[in-house]
Amino acid sequence: MRYLKNLLFLTFLITASCSVNNRSKQLNVVSPDRKVRVTFYLTETGVPAYKLFYNNKTVLNESTLGFEFKDAPPMFAGWKIRKSRERSFNETWKMPWGEQEDVVNNYNELKVFLKETDDPYRRLNVIFRVYNDGIGFRYGFPEQPHLKEVIILDEHTQFNLAGDWDTWWQPGDWDSYEHLYHATKFSEIDATKYRNHPALAQTYIPFNAVNTPVTMRTNDSLYLSFHEANLTDYAGMTLLVNKEKLMWESKLVSSDRTGYAVKRKLPFKTPWRTVQISKNAGGLIESKLIVNLNEPDKLGDMNWFKPTKYTGIWWEMHLGKSSWDMAGGNHGATTENAKKLIDFSAANNIHGMLVEGWNTGWEHWIGFDDREGIFDFVTPYTDYNLKKIVRYGKEKGVELIMHHETSAAPRTYEQQLSAAYQLMHKLGIHLVKTGYVGKIIPKGEYHHGQWMVRHYRKVLDTAAKYHIAVIAHEPIKATGIRRTYPNAISREGLRGQEFNAWSPDGGNPPDHLPTVAFTRMLAGPIDYTPGIFNIKLKPYKPNNQINTTLAQQLALYVVLYSPVQMVPDLMENYEGRPAFQFIRDVGVNWKQSKVLNGEVGSFVTIAREERGTGNWFVGSITNEDARNIEISFDFLEPGKSFDATIYADGPDADWDKNPTDIKIEKKEVNSNSKLKLHLAPGGGCAISLMKK
Ligand code: NOJ
Ligand code: CA
Repeated sequence: MRYLKNLLFLTFLITASCSVNNRSKQLNVVSPDRKVRVTFYLTETGVPAYKLFYNNKTVLNESTLGFEFKDAPPMFAGWKIRKSRERSFNETWKMPWGEQEDVVNNYNELKVFLKETDDPYRRLNVIFRVYNDGIGFRYGFPEQPHLKEVIILDEHTQFNLAGDWDTWWQPGDWDSYEHLYHATKFSEIDATKYRNHPALAQTYIPFNAVNTPVTMRTNDSLYLSFHEANLTDYAGMTLLVNKEKLMWESKLVSSDRTGYAVKRKLPFKTPWRTVQISKNAGGLIESKLIVNLNEPDKLGDMNWFKPTKYTGIWWEMHLGKSSWDMAGGNHGATTENAKKLIDFSAANNIHGMLVEGWNTGWEHWIGFDDREGIFDFVTPYTDYNLKKIVRYGKEKGVELIMHHETSAAPRTYEQQLSAAYQLMHKLGIHLVKTGYVGKIIPKGEYHHGQWMVRHYRKVLDTAAKYHIAVIAHEPIKATGIRRTYPNAISREGLRGQEFNAWSPDGGNPPDHLPTVAFTRMLAGPIDYTPGIFNIKLKPYKPNNQINTTLAQQLALYVVLYSPVQMVPDLMENYEGRPAFQFIRDVGVNWKQSKVLNGEVGSFVTIAREERGTGNWFVGSITNEDARNIEISFDFLEPGKSFDATIYADGPDADWDKNPTDIKIEKKEVNSNSKLKLHLAPGGGCAISLMKK
């Protein structure tokens, strides 16, 4: 198997059975570097509990585990440990595309087999994997005589924090991840304040809870991020804020239609609950814990997908220059527009092009309740010649990216899925952008519940059969599934660039992306759509703007990882602009990535080496504070010279007052070189390093 380069598999039994429910029976498992430790035990009443330590300091105090069911007693107290098993695992696997080529997956595992001491004598397993960069644990419901199926009302997994730490969080919304992040102490979190956002077509924040990943900094400057991995056939998890106990508690997204969160036949395993741990903020970005906790690649050869930059008939709709629907008389997706954009893409080293508003149904999407059966995923509007455009693109080396806006009516989409993908397959189209704007139909289901988790997976599964890769908007969160399904290439699941075009709250403030890099980005690739050059959006949106400098827009191609990166601005805004050269040059598929510096919410600098060419690209971004940083190029191969082009904020640059002031300089550098950079307020710097 090609992803298994170096496999070391060691299994050994450590403990025989023990039936005493007391704290003295403690099972420990440590990371390969021995810095991270988990202790598992049962409390006096037989409740499963664990603690987490880093360098022998407590990170999580006693945190208990349990479940609440419909029509069955809860799983909480009254357990005994039947046996436990420990093993070590070490492999290096290859990412078919990614922010790096080789991934080391090295952990020690503890599996605890639990049984109830009384009737109904149910069984439950808890599995911990301890890595140098954090932990994952999950529940296994094994096959057993008196339990065939469970209906889970809620999961009670605790993360009992050892302090009231700095937290970067967004509200626990069952329908959306398109929120700003807030930086507060844990005890100051109030998610309910953010109910009713005027720009969200769907939002539901029932509790004071947060979405994951949620990132923290302890008083000793240890960085933690809480999330989940391998969310399969289960409900998404939010984390309730228990202020009295300083504790996160899992809260599963539940369905109002069925009255429960999860229904599963046994045997099954839950997603992994994860805590990433790093001594510096950048280590969280470099951590591969989330993908490592997923199953190996199921798809095999993915040669049909090539990471790519892509343009689109898209931003013009968000600016209000044209529309998705045809009836209004201002239709964006016309054959003529598409052909012009293909010419532009081909001339600028861009090999993908997205067209939105190409298919019938857009007259009846946002704001309508009866959205079932409206969108048609095979029928183009009459002014859009799909076949001709695909052919024209192929001749010029530009592949069309299909767009399927479902308007959150997944049953309609599922009915047409095969037909839609057959059409794409026939036309030789390998990428689809999906969308789920609006409240889910049927009512009572939420974007992040089990019913939708199943839907999103069905889409991926079906797409894979037709050699189609998916960029999902309004998605379920990334949980590392891209390892198993590498056709899950990118997704939104955050407040994207589009908010800058129309959000009444002024768009994404300058600290948004320096926070996203240490929160949302830990989950997986992001379809943010950077690269807007007409920062003030004139004449279309005089009251909105992009809240960064132009240099930062370039830097985002490196900082925000995705194997597909959009080049979204109107063509005329790129023409004749020297800064556009960076976008022509920048890679999208990386051999390795290094975080050079960073602080959550403040700034970050990332360097990435392009696969195949050995060229490097560096991106640095800051929040509203200007700062001076020094970069050392010691990541370059010693003895080799590189032609560097530096796209830096000009002396007067400022995200608001003077966003397009940019200074472009060329230099020769090698691994001994250093560079001082000035980042303007809301600014950044992008550097291309072409191997000589
Ligand atoms: C919301 C998506 O985020 C955006 O990219 C898309 O243009 C619209 N929905 C229409 O599908
Ligand atoms: Ca969106």
